[in-house]
Amino acid sequence: MHSDSSTTTTQTEPPVWDPQQYLRHAGHRTRPFLDLLSRIPELPAIGGLSPRIADLGCGPGNVTARLADRWPDARITGFDLSPQMLAQADKDHAGTTAGGGWLDFQIADAAHWVPGEPYDLIVSNAALQWVPNHPESFPAWIDGLSPGGTFAFQVPGNFTSPSHAILAELCESPRWRRRLDDHGRRYVHILEPADYLTRLADLGCVADVWETVYCQLLTGTDPVLDWVKGTALRPVLTALDGDQKAMDALLTEYRDRLREAYPPGPHGTVFPFRRIFAVARKK
Ligand SMILES: C[S@@+](CC[C@H](N)C(=O)[O-])C[C@H]1O[C@@H](n2cnc3c(N)ncnc32)[C@H](O)[C@@H]1O
Repeated sequence: MHSDSSTTTTQTEPPVWDPQQYLRHAGHRTRPFLDLLSRIPELPAIGGLSPRIADLGCGPGNVTARLADRWPDARITGFDLSPQMLAQADKDHAGTTAGGGWLDFQIADAAHWVPGEPYDLIVSNAALQWVPNHPESFPAWIDGLSPGGTFAFQVPGNFTSPSHAILAELCESPRWRRRLDDHGRRYVHILEPADYLTRLADLGCVADVWETVYCQLLTGTDPVLDWVKGTALRPVLTALDGDQKAMDALLTEYRDRLREAYPPGPHGTVFPFRRIFAVARKK
């Protein structure tokens, strides 16, 4: 595991995402977003205009659409780097909303994104962990908020859990290191909650930061492997695409070790998942 507290950048191309695989665990993946949403205060209604919202790393758009449930007249744009995710979001969610707002989706790299207009809310769910140095963008993002606007995000905080530690170990093992090159390295770009709190308070925001461990109960055969196939494994699956033999060998090795780390119990497979949340309101 390469932990750099957000200072290192990776040299590799971004992974190819699979919206269908990602959405297989949509229930468990949406819950933290709803918990984040419940802590976001009302948005400023400046000049009676409908709220303007950006969702960074919107993925297949299913959580972006939840923003429209809360702010039905909002003009919401989801930004993402993955054409596959954006195609799914466009197909399922783009257009006018029931409350007279609209949802659209645009390609953008959050590492370089700066608000092109004032936003009442900039939100990001389970995406900034993929963005090196994202705390360096906080000043520009807060600057781009309307007075009283909010920046809110959630990132996984589980990079030392067995699911990720085993994968890192495998990728670094002599058998796989050369084959995977940098695709097997997972740099940890997140900060600890107290560091996020300090950064956001330093920018003059009223900051609310916390963490939660979700005791997720998964069902089916090898459910943890199925979960990571939608997220943490994407760079590895991208690197091995077209080499079925290597892919099968790595997945078998990983699966066997996950089975030991997360044995099925009488009610399913318990997969604890730590997540970090931040809600920062611009004064
Ligand atoms: C785990 S998914 C989360 C999707 C969605 N926010 C959700 O909660 O369901 C992570 C998303 O971040 C996107 N992503 C990763 N790096 C990014 C970057 N640098 N800029 C924009 N999006 C990025 C990926 O393409 C992917 O859609």
